[in-house]
This record gives sequence, C-alpha cells and structure tokens, in this order.
Amino acid sequence: MATVVSFINFKGGVGKTTLCVEIAASLAQKFNEKVLIVDLDPQTNATLSLMTEKDWEDHAAQNGTLRDFFEACYEGKELGLDSIIVKNPVKYHGALTNLDLVPSHIELFGMDLRLATKLGHENLKAKLFLKKALEPLQDKYTYIFVDCPPNLYLTTQNGLFASDHYLIVALAEYLSTLGIAHIQKSVGNIFADANKLLSDIGSGTNGLKQPAIAGIIFNRLRTIYSGTYSQEDIIRRVTADYPGMVFDARVPHSDKIAVRAEQKVPIAVSGYAADRAYEERITQAAHEFYDRLTRPTAGRS
Ligand SMILES: Nc1ncnc2c1ncn2[C@@H]1O[C@H](COP(=O)(O)OP(=O)(O)OP(=O)(O)O)[C@@H](O)[C@H]1O
Ligand SMILES: [Mg+2]
Repeated sequence: MATVVSFINFKGGVGKTTLCVEIAASLAQKFNEKVLIVDLDPQTNATLSLMTEKDWEDHAAQNGTLRDFFEACYEGKELGLDSIIVKNPVKYHGALTNLDLVPSHIELFGMDLRLATKLGHENLKAKLFLKKALEPLQDKYTYIFVDCPPNLYLTTQNGLFASDHYLIVALAEYLSTLGIAHIQKSVGNIFADANKLLSDIGSGTNGLKQPAIAGIIFNRLRTIYSGTYSQEDIIRRVTADYPGMVFDARVPHSDKIAVRAEQKVPIAVSGYAADRAYEERITQAAHEFYDRLTRPTAGRS
C-alpha cells in the first residue's frame, strides 16, 4: 500500500515543489522506493522540473494531464490516472526508474471555480476524485507525493482527502511560520465538515480519516549547517510550539536549484558537481522522513 503525502503550505514560494521533487528523487534512488509525484499545481513546476517542455507537450497531446483527469470528473466521466502517468521522466545517467509523474497543466487554473460552480463548494464527491483515482495505484507505488498549490481550494482538498500525511514546508521567517497553526486548523475543519456531512446523510461509513502531520521542514537556510541567528530563533520557537514535529534536517539555500530545474535533474540524485551540502541535507531529510512515517509515533496531529 502506498503512503500518500501532501506537501503543503498556503504561503507561496516556500519550497513545497522543490522539496517534494528532491525528497521523492532521493527516496527513489537511495531507498529504492517506488515513488509517484502528483503535480496538483497549475503552475506545473514539479512537472517542468522533471521533464522538458517538448516532452510535456507531446505527452499532454497524446496521453493527457491532470487537467484532462479533472475535466473528465467535471463531465461526470471516469478517467483513470494510469494513462496520464509519465514513467521515469528523469533521464540522467540512465533513467531514474523508480520515479513517475502525474503531470499538471496550466489550464488547471480555473478548474477549482468550475468544479465549485457546477458541483458546489461543499460537494464531498468533488473532493474525493483524486482519492478514488489513486486507489488502483496503491500497489504500484510505496510513496505518492502530492505537490499542492498554495491555497486550499477544491483541487488542493482533493490532495488532502487522498493523503495519509501532510508535510508542511516553511521558511524560517516570521510570515512563513504564521500559517502553520492555520494549516492544522483548516485541515481539521475540512475533515470535520466532511464527516458531519457523511453522518447527516446517514452514510453508514466510518468517516474520512484526517491525514496526520508528517512534520515541519525548514527550507532555504542561509548558512550551510544551520540558519542565521534570526532563523535559528524562529526554528527554536516553532520547535517549542510543535514538539517533535520539526525535522532535524534543515535544507540550505542552494544556488544550484534553478539550474537543476532547467537540467531536469534533482540535485539529490545528480551525483556530480552538484551542491554537496544541499544534497547531504536532502538525504538526511529523506532518512528522517522515512523514519517518521515508519516509526510507531508517526503522525501525531
Ligand atoms: N533550498 C533552496 N535554495 C535555493 N532556492 C530555492 C530553495 N528552495 C526553493 N528555492 C527556490 O525558491 C522558489 C520557490 O520554490 P518552490 O517553487 O519550490 O516553492 P513552492 O512553495 O512550491 O511555491 P508555490 O507556492 O508557488 O508552489 C523557486 O524559484 C525555487 O527554485
Ligand atoms: Mg509549488
């Protein structure tokens, strides 16, 4: 059974996509895990950090993207994700055979509004499309990572309802950490509302299980092995406020990230003159992630 994890923060630009791709690549290469990334964000950043625009265009024309999946849902038709999946998009020193991708599409922008207009924002069915579609893939992957856009609209909620865990990516900055409590509260409210609805209609099910928090990971620290003084101060505060949740691994800023996206090779697996300090921290984060999700105390919320 795959463990499904959403990478989330309502704040934009904190590194959700970067860490989703890097940790996925690290787990695929160094832990031999079979990983699927679902790019839920119309910005298509995860997609285009793993495949060229030309390959994406060809794939979108021939096999479709997540836009086509949600379009079919909108039309009330069934479309599995299988045909949309890009197998082994990372091709560097031989393909990274354990990492697959459900690509996104810029035209996913607007889908939230269309779904909400047609089906109603509170419509539970509209929040469970992805969960249902991932079910047949559960045995093919050990991890499914969902890269969420920085909002909590219907498509993001599809990611959360499909997830066993969610991982909060944050910068060690005051404004970036303000949202942590809000995320937890919002996830709680979304599931409470959904379960109330199920019980009101007498669905007879056990209700929907809220994903557990897999942790809070700090990204883009300014010095190599720790943060600056003010970054350390913020991390200390968040660690005190959320005991046991903050990753020991802190990911440093790396100037190589932009180049990496252009080359379509995650730094975590590029293995040559990449950024060693960064690569080490990603490996540490992947280890810790692995530990947190497999140890018995995993998933306190
Ligand atoms: N550790 C890092 N070092 C240097 N640059 C980074 C690092 N992490 C992320 N970035 C850069 O910061 C920008 C935002 O990162 P990313 O796209 O991963 O954030 P995001 O949270 O997914 O954003 P969005 O909310 O728009 O989806 C990108 O330009 C990325 O290359
Ligand atoms: Mg992103």
